[in-house]
Amino acid sequence: MDILRRREDNCFMRPGQGRALWAALLVGMAASASPMVLFAQQAEQPLGARLYAGQQTLAGYIAGHETPLPETASRCVNCHVLAGSPRPASGSQKTVAFGPLLSAEGLKGLVPRRGGPPSRYDLHAFCELLKTGVDPAKVIIQRTMPRYKLDEPQCEALWMYITQPTP
Ligand code: HEC
Repeated sequence: MDILRRREDNCFMRPGQGRALWAALLVGMAASASPMVLFAQQAEQPLGARLYAGQQTLAGYIAGHETPLPETASRCVNCHVLAGSPRPASGSQKTVAFGPLLSAEGLKGLVPRRGGPPSRYDLHAFCELLKTGVDPAKVIIQRTMPRYKLDEPQCEALWMYITQPTP
């Protein structure tokens, strides 16, 4: 009898404790559910939009450097304005390293860029520019614009997002 009682005492779960454990587990599940909800909301934005705005990380590098830029410094939205989106307010940080306005016409249209012969972007040329900094006329862009390590789906998503028809 004595031994039995001792066993009960040592037992991990005493009577009544089971319910408390379940409650704890449920609370834990509820708490961990909220980040999932947040994730689902973010996922509603297309990949290209998330990459452009930096909600989805892209590894950006200053040309010639091995260490990636801080995530916040690699965001396209820091330096570019998309055609059709509101202009940054005067005095906004964008004036510091302001890149060109990005639009479907501007990228796909045959225009001279950086003193080179007229050229236009397609998906391939766009990905090449992001990875290597070489534009379609084989001119190297300024170092202000980071170089990126990105895969084909990421690059394609960015291209689709940036060149989508403006409303
Ligand atoms: C730190 C600022 C900065 C960031 C971040 C940045 N860019 Fe740029 N980008 C520039 C500048 C400056 C130029 C112009 C370079 C030149 O003319 O030599 C440029 C040029 C470009 C061009 C070439 C446009 C043309 O007509 O030839 C494209 C396309 C482009 N950026 C896309 C992107 C995308 C996509 C991202 C994010 C993945 C991005 N940029 C992030 C500054 C930036």
